[in-house]
Amino acid sequence: MKTPARLLPLQHADLIDEVVGQLQSGKEAEVYLVRVEGVIRCAKVYKEANHRTFTQKTQYTEGRKIRNSRQARAMEGNSKYGRKERESEWQNTEVETLYLLAAAGVRVPQPLAFYEGVLLLEMVADQDGDPAPRLSDVVLTAVQARAYFQVMIREAVRMLCAGIVHGDLSEFNVLKAHDGLVIIDLPQAVQATANNAFAIFERDLLQLAAFFGRSAPEIKSTNYAKEIWQLYRNGKLRPDTQLTGKFADSSKNADVGEVMAEIDEARAEALMRHRGPR
Ligand SMILES: Nc1ncnc2c1ncn2[C@@H]1O[C@H](COP(=O)(O)OP(=O)(O)OP(=O)(O)O)[C@@H](O)[C@H]1O
Ligand SMILES: [Mg+2]
Repeated sequence: MKTPARLLPLQHADLIDEVVGQLQSGKEAEVYLVRVEGVIRCAKVYKEANHRTFTQKTQYTEGRKIRNSRQARAMEGNSKYGRKERESEWQNTEVETLYLLAAAGVRVPQPLAFYEGVLLLEMVADQDGDPAPRLSDVVLTAVQARAYFQVMIREAVRMLCAGIVHGDLSEFNVLKAHDGLVIIDLPQAVQATANNAFAIFERDLLQLAAFFGRSAPEIKSTNYAKEIWQLYRNGKLRPDTQLTGKFADSSKNADVGEVMAEIDEARAEALMRHRGPR
């Protein structure tokens, strides 16, 4: 096909030979099939900042560690500079996260290059060598659903051990490759140390349980998120830690936490009154 404008710089830089077709136009990006030295790869073209919704991004920004303070300030405001910074930060997160997760043994496509806002990466293939389908496009038996759910729980544990929460884990972002499941789409990944990381992690696992639960209903009553998170918080989570899928909710503990928070708040207020506003 005729090379789309956003892929021309890659062609000129000799990073790709030819654009073979378009795979999908999603919310955040367009994915093309490209030929590189005789091999078919994927090229993920991130949409321009002004074509995307910013509300969702700001929600996730909080969870990211921003080292450079100039960058941090820029990201708070809505200046043109700030927008540009957020744009590049968004794009870099996916590349960085792919490398990090691959090193941690999580099955993700291998990133090959990141150039002019385009991520060149391994094409995940099915048994015929075609682009692998998403889990959402596959009909699963109950036995397969149970097995795949366990694989995905293990992958989520591996990601957490590497300090990462996917942030959009669902049947739409897992591909069924010829040799197993591959996780994609990571620009919104957050650091596990972020304030809201548990809520995001829990939502990821609930989405998976809801999907696999359609084929194997008992999956819907599992509770892995709290169990895994508690192990993680206590420094006891390892990639191969045995899990039960059950979690005994202790409302007593929760109450104690709430009371403590109230005490802290009251103390802070008293201090404020005492010192006066600064
Ligand atoms: N490495 C890959 N190999 C094969 N197919 C891929 C690969 N990466 C992406 N795809 C296909 O392109 C689609 C869009 O990719 P991705 O999910 O990364 O982007 P997105 O813009 O966030 O999409 P969406 O908004 O639909 O989630 C995927 O659902 C998948 O079908
Ligand atoms: Mg996606």
